[in-house]
Amino acid sequence: MKILLTGGAGFIGSHTCVELCEAGHDPVIVDNYINSCPEAVRRIEQIVGRSVLCYEADVTDAAAMDRIFSENAFDCVIHFAGLKAVGESVSQPLRYYRNNLDSTLTLCETMQKHGVKRFVFSSSATVYGNQPQVPYREDMPSVGCTNPYGWTKFMIEKILEGQCTADPSWSVVLLRYFNPIGAHASGLIGEDPSGIPNNLMPFIAKVAVGELEKLSVFGNDYPTPDGTGVRDYIHVVDLAKGHVKACDYSAAHQGCEIINLGTGHGYSVLDLVNTFERVNGIKIPYVIAPRRPGDIAENYADPSKAKQLLGWTAEKNLEDMCRDTYRFQHNNPKGYQK
Ligand code: UFG
Repeated sequence: MKILLTGGAGFIGSHTCVELCEAGHDPVIVDNYINSCPEAVRRIEQIVGRSVLCYEADVTDAAAMDRIFSENAFDCVIHFAGLKAVGESVSQPLRYYRNNLDSTLTLCETMQKHGVKRFVFSSSATVYGNQPQVPYREDMPSVGCTNPYGWTKFMIEKILEGQCTADPSWSVVLLRYFNPIGAHASGLIGEDPSGIPNNLMPFIAKVAVGELEKLSVFGNDYPTPDGTGVRDYIHVVDLAKGHVKACDYSAAHQGCEIINLGTGHGYSVLDLVNTFERVNGIKIPYVIAPRRPGDIAENYADPSKAKQLLGWTAEKNLEDMCRDTYRFQHNNPKGYQK
């Protein structure tokens, strides 16, 4: 299959590109590199041993998208491109709504014009909001998001659901990711956030290589086994394989399906710190800090729908995630810009 990956040079996009190549597909990347870089594409090519077609363009640019669709007969699109920093979305809501919604609408309109009807969307567990119970199941109604980033994911899901209702020949898979971490086992591609990371694992990785002094653990008084927040961390390579399965699924089904991609296991902040220290033989200094506003105590996925519909289950454990994250960070202490 020929598959367009918007944001294909980013963290999840690059790993998905590798897995699609390994599965014999033909991915094409479009990326504006605002939160990624061409070096990631070169690394993908190094891993898979062949070139990957990549367009530098913005998905909100209708003329550029029209040209890309004219030059390629896509079977399916995976839409990763989008702004994703929760805190930044609170201070720049208009930019987040404009960018994330505009890009999706432009992409859908271009697909409609060119008769491409299969869409896999990079959604998030954040769409569930703070549910009264775990695990999170796809049939739980959202209780509302806590920030504009989350609302853009929510709204995009609604846009795509609406399109499937209007044209039942569309096939949309809304993949709700839990917490993707880890890196490709080669150590060549991984997460490369700009500036000080907001998320836990990239922050730990930078402490591990000495770029940051210590981790702040945001709260140790949650109603969880050790008091720190619990999340469903999933290895990015498992997540990427879930996308390959979702593309296959979209070929044989129509309509709109929400599918969780998680492991079904919750780990605390301290579980992650302790595992990282143990498998990598490195001390991660930390202090207990106040809770971060907007954080919830605990979430993890019910991953049974992914198993049932896609035949997909996460295979890698927390140790793999910690080892692979450190390998990439150690090999690339300054990320891709060595
Ligand atoms: N944490 C710390 N210190 C840090 C960073 C995080 O203690 O420096 C804690 C948080 O309080 C939380 C856990 O680590 O308990 C995980 O936090 P992350 O920021 O890594 O991830 P979140 O679960 O807050 O958010 C992630 C994605 C969002 C997505 C959400 C979906 O970053 O994009 O999952 O649930 F929306």
